[in-house]
Amino acid sequence: MLRALLALMLTVTFVSTAHAQEGASPDREATGGAQTLEDIMARQRGEEVDNSFRSDATGDPDSAAGIASQLGTLGGASDPELWRALRFGTANITASNNSPTATTLIQDGGMGWLQFREGPLASYGGGLLIVTAALLAVFLMVRGRITIDGEKTGRTITRFKAVERFGHWLLAGSFILLGVTGLVSLFGRTVFIPVFGHEAFSYLAVGSKWIHNNVSWAFMLALAMIFVMWVIHNLPDRTDINWLLKGGGIFTNGHPPAKKFNAGQKLIFWSVIVLGTSISVSGLALLFPFEFNMFAPTFAKLNSFGISEALGLGTLRETLAPHEEMQYAQLWHAIVSFVLMAIILAHIYIGSVGMEGAYDAMGSGEVEEQWAREHHSIWAEEELAKDRKAPESATPAE
Ligand code: HEM
Repeated sequence: MLRALLALMLTVTFVSTAHAQEGASPDREATGGAQTLEDIMARQRGEEVDNSFRSDATGDPDSAAGIASQLGTLGGASDPELWRALRFGTANITASNNSPTATTLIQDGGMGWLQFREGPLASYGGGLLIVTAALLAVFLMVRGRITIDGEKTGRTITRFKAVERFGHWLLAGSFILLGVTGLVSLFGRTVFIPVFGHEAFSYLAVGSKWIHNNVSWAFMLALAMIFVMWVIHNLPDRTDINWLLKGGGIFTNGHPPAKKFNAGQKLIFWSVIVLGTSISVSGLALLFPFEFNMFAPTFAKLNSFGISEALGLGTLRETLAPHEEMQYAQLWHAIVSFVLMAIILAHIYIGSVGMEGAYDAMGSGEVEEQWAREHHSIWAEEELAKDRKAPESATPAE
């Protein structure tokens, strides 16, 4: 899945500049080597234009006329050449402060980022959530609620201790808040400004941002908690293969044996851990701007291992402006979040309306014995065996 995500992200974002240039180069003689109308039109159509005729034309200090000659004081670079050097990041700049962005006076990743964020990111991301919710609704209508097949016993087994439920609800509560406020940041301007107006939306936007930035710590803490508490039960084992081959019995009404977590739950667990960590890391890069540059080194690795080539992406750019690092971090953060939100919609469905008796596991922590026997037979047997053993080993009161 990560590979697919990576391919998606890398394909549709700014890698364009790294690709081989297409089309015959226009005749720039008439413009003295500057760009032509065709260049400008091609760029406006979103086509690739070989920029080397501009990026390489940044003047030559050695060709400067001697100081005593005519025009000698102007140096070896004309104004347009200086601006081009600034534009392509090759000018020798000294700034009065040493912030990471101080010497990047012009960067041109912003337009591509903006267009991707408002275009494919918003439409595919929003579409993914709507399609997932619709599929779950259809599944509920076709398959119906998964009920407890056997007769209920009236006895319960403890499934999750209070600390586990606290960790889960901290994770769930923070994730839902982050999801909602993140969606407000992405779609708020389009959806709410026409309804509430600019002023009311500004309060919503500022509030959402505050919640999003601060609740992120609760999410990271909860992520670490559930990892520590549940990783041992989520290591793959032989029962998972059988469970997956039988599709968890969802369509056949069967109940393949499972330990504390079945293969489906293990997939959810690892999705939450891996994608949640990736969201956290890219979120930290956004929270502390320009502090972590992760994309240029990643692109360099993808290039050196031949992965970018194998994915048909050519050679990725290994030098990025600090702003471009932030743009990539934002897109990655949002894309991975959309994928995790879609997965979590399915999880919320199965943990509530989709399956009788499931919610109790996280509600009271106690599940019906028959539910446990049907959905987690190996775990239920172990727990019941412990209970049977406990009274035997208890010392009778004197
Ligand atoms: C209202 C929302 C939610 C409900 C009703 C819910 C319900 C549940 C239930 C009932 C279980 C226990 C299943 C069992 O007994 O085997 C569970 C487990 C779990 N939940 Fe949630 N949950 C919600 C939101 C979330 C969110 C937002 C996340 C993560 C971002 C999450 C992550 C997990 C994980 C990792 C597990 C353990 C693996 C699994 O059972 O799939 N949950 N949840």
